[in-house]
Amino acid sequence: MYRQVIEYLKTIRKFMVSRQRAAHIQRMEEDAREFSKLHKVSYEKLQLAICAHDLFRDIEPEKLIKISRIWGLKITKLEKFAPVLLHGKVASEYLRNRFNLKDIEILDAVAYHTSGIPTDSSIVRSLVILDTLEHGRTFKGADELRAIAKRSLNEGYVEVIKNKIEYALNKGLLVLPKTVETWNFLRGVR
Ligand SMILES: [Fe+2]
Ligand SMILES: [Fe+2]
Repeated sequence: MYRQVIEYLKTIRKFMVSRQRAAHIQRMEEDAREFSKLHKVSYEKLQLAICAHDLFRDIEPEKLIKISRIWGLKITKLEKFAPVLLHGKVASEYLRNRFNLKDIEILDAVAYHTSGIPTDSSIVRSLVILDTLEHGRTFKGADELRAIAKRSLNEGYVEVIKNKIEYALNKGLLVLPKTVETWNFLRGVR
């Protein structure tokens, strides 16, 4: 069943996202082959999450708000301020509605790939890591993070979450509450 969904998502990718975004998704699929073997996670599940995660990333802000309202998704104050933050939740809800997908790991991974969530799920952690560290990303320290994530899924997740917070603070961007929650969870708050 997952195979068919993946093939379908690959087809609609062609008109749902920009060329650069499609390339980003493609690179994640490539990296996921070795990564999934290394950390013993299902490539199929991870690939499905990868193919879905940014499908709605290039949809206009007003449309994201509209779709979220129609599907009854809760819109937080932060998401109202920056509707692009809804693209993961909308993609997750799309998987649920369109394919009756019930795998909570995949749904959570897609919904929270930008912020991370407090979780021990390998699929969620893998998606967040690959989204940040796919081989096309070139930020300072990326290679160090890749080496850590190769050694340990847990340490990789810790470092990627840390990097998200550091990056946001350094650039004067928003810090997502879920990212902070995740950081505290990884520091032992359970
Ligand atoms: Fe995204
Ligand atoms: Fe992404």
